[in-house]
Amino acid sequence: MKRFFLSILVIFALLVIGFNLWGYATLGTIDVAENAERQEDANAVVLVMGATGSAGDGLLKAAIEDPSVKKVYVLTRRSTPRIDAGVASGKVDMRLHKDFTDYSAFATELAEVNTVLWGLGTSSLKVDDATYTRIHVDFTIAFIKEWLSARNEAPMALHYITGMGTDPKGDAHWAREKGRLEREMAELAAPTPLRTFSYRSAYIRPTSENSNALTYLGELLLKPGKLVITSKALGQAMLEISTRITELPNGTLIDNADSIAYAQAYQESMAQ
Ligand SMILES: NC(=O)c1ccc[n+]([C@@H]2O[C@H](COP(=O)([O-])OP(=O)(O)OC[C@H]3O[C@@H](n4cnc5c(N)ncnc54)[C@H](OP(=O)(O)O)[C@@H]3O)[C@@H](O)[C@H]2O)c1
Repeated sequence: MKRFFLSILVIFALLVIGFNLWGYATLGTIDVAENAERQEDANAVVLVMGATGSAGDGLLKAAIEDPSVKKVYVLTRRSTPRIDAGVASGKVDMRLHKDFTDYSAFATELAEVNTVLWGLGTSSLKVDDATYTRIHVDFTIAFIKEWLSARNEAPMALHYITGMGTDPKGDAHWAREKGRLEREMAELAAPTPLRTFSYRSAYIRPTSENSNALTYLGELLLKPGKLVITSKALGQAMLEISTRITELPNGTLIDNADSIAYAQAYQESMAQ
């Protein structure tokens, strides 16, 4: 029995080491520009989608804490302590919503929005294929169409978490659908002032308020291979990329190491 558990432990350790070596060797394809053209009010009005989720809570935290963000809209089915606190502070404007294929009631608000941080989504293990497509493709495409009909003026950027393993030609339905979404978002945005960015994130460690010993252990194990980012740092990377108005073109795919690098650039610019 002891030998069995020891073998399991060794296999797990080898897998973690191998994964980290792979991440370290292959991730990080974008060089963060040192003197990028910046527009400091590029994130004046931010909308967070999926703000009640594990990733979205950190995107919301980053937006609330950013002094250049003047207003944060949250479109959601329910509230959380962070949303409630943001509403109480006057910075967050929460709108309860049910049908995420229809945003026609929010044209006035969408006309104001510069930056969308999209953390709405679910696991392919929790829903059938048709529902997965509806949540990840139909919701997002309907949103972009409505946003573009309400606003046609830069700065506009949409940041979407697709996830590591996204692959338009992949074997898994989820990977193909998220790959299709990456392409369709960029195509919709191409003739407009909107830039769309897809984050092929690995493990997104929840905010400190929602973390526990297991999430911190996951972070520790995946850090050497740049396979983890905190949800707040991911939000900061998104805000940084919006601010760099000419650095990355519409449709850029951002891997986990790239998002770590942009989060670091954000933190350095805030420290100045
Ligand atoms: N967490 C990670 O480590 C990680 C890594 C890579 C990629 N991602 C991707 O990031 C996205 C979010 O992941 P997560 O871990 O934050 O998920 P999560 O904790 O389950 O949060 C999901 C969010 O999406 C909302 N949502 C889900 N289904 C919805 C529906 N049918 N209608 C309206 N809202 C809906 C949830 O709202 P309610 O609270 O109202 O249910 C919640 O705000 C997913 O696409 C996931 O694949 C996550």
